[in-house]
Amino acid sequence: MNAIHGVHPGFRAVHAKGSCCRGTFVATPDAARLCIAPHLQGEEVPVTVRFSNGSGKPSRADGARDERGMAVKFHLPDGGSTDIVSLTLPAFFVRTPEDFLEFLEAQRPDPETGKPDLDRVGAFINAHPETQMATMFVMTNDSPASFAGCTFNGIHAFRLTGPDGMARFVRYRWVPDSEPATLTDDETRALGRGYLHEELERRLASETIGYDLYFQLAEEADDMTDPTTPWPEERELVRAGQLSLDGFTGQECEGMIFDPGRLVEGIERSDDPILHARSGAYSVSFERRTGAGT
Ligand code: HEM
Repeated sequence: MNAIHGVHPGFRAVHAKGSCCRGTFVATPDAARLCIAPHLQGEEVPVTVRFSNGSGKPSRADGARDERGMAVKFHLPDGGSTDIVSLTLPAFFVRTPEDFLEFLEAQRPDPETGKPDLDRVGAFINAHPETQMATMFVMTNDSPASFAGCTFNGIHAFRLTGPDGMARFVRYRWVPDSEPATLTDDETRALGRGYLHEELERRLASETIGYDLYFQLAEEADDMTDPTTPWPEERELVRAGQLSLDGFTGQECEGMIFDPGRLVEGIERSDDPILHARSGAYSVSFERRTGAGT
């Protein structure tokens, strides 16, 4: 990742440019019926949310082709926290950490030109058809007009345990209250490199931003371990809660770590190998950017 995006001291290895917000989350009775986790019992829980661009370049223009991230930290009554870390992508690029390394290696810039060799990237994608959905999403989608209109997907399966002891696999989805809207490349260029984060700050100065959290319930036929394949759209979606953001806090959460492996009783990881690889990578990035552990 550093070879592709550069090393930028103090910044995340990817998702380097971010903006922080504060707000609250209130779970629905259906969430409490499906899961015993403390933030899903219906009491209002304070949250910290970080919106980001996927690139590891802090100066990359907001209108560049990219996925966007939304990381939510729920602050629990016992002083602990738990995170949901999601992307605008409908699926991830690869199935295994080994494939991810190979995919990153294919994007390593050529020392002569300073640019990735598109033939190498193309060869990887041809040999890994499961990469196409995420790659096409990044390449073909216009940039969002606002983070407030983006749907964010948790992508991995998690195992929830209910008060009845029943376990179910779900995937998370944040669905915005605002209508989705996109901008052309000309429009984003006219608005400037920081338009998406500036729009977030402006919007939060005068209104709240809302998202519904949905659990997409797995069925027998669904693969719990493959982040490259969305489950069929007809799978039941259960509305699990409402997130309301009411304050822009700028860079206040840059020193935090948002990690999808930071879980509480009632929520466990599926056996998805990408999900298991993430915590280690996030810790290394955190140590490098904060100097912790050195
Ligand atoms: C093996 C696969 C992956 C690796 C190695 C990886 C690596 C990383 C690293 C190193 C960071 C910076 C962490 C930090 O400094 O705090 C990061 C951030 C992030 N990743 Fe991943 N990632 C992977 C998969 C995913 C997937 C599948 C998703 C979405 C479901 C995702 C969403 C994000 C988001 C939203 C952030 C920004 C979090 C924040 O705002 O603090 N990543 N990733």
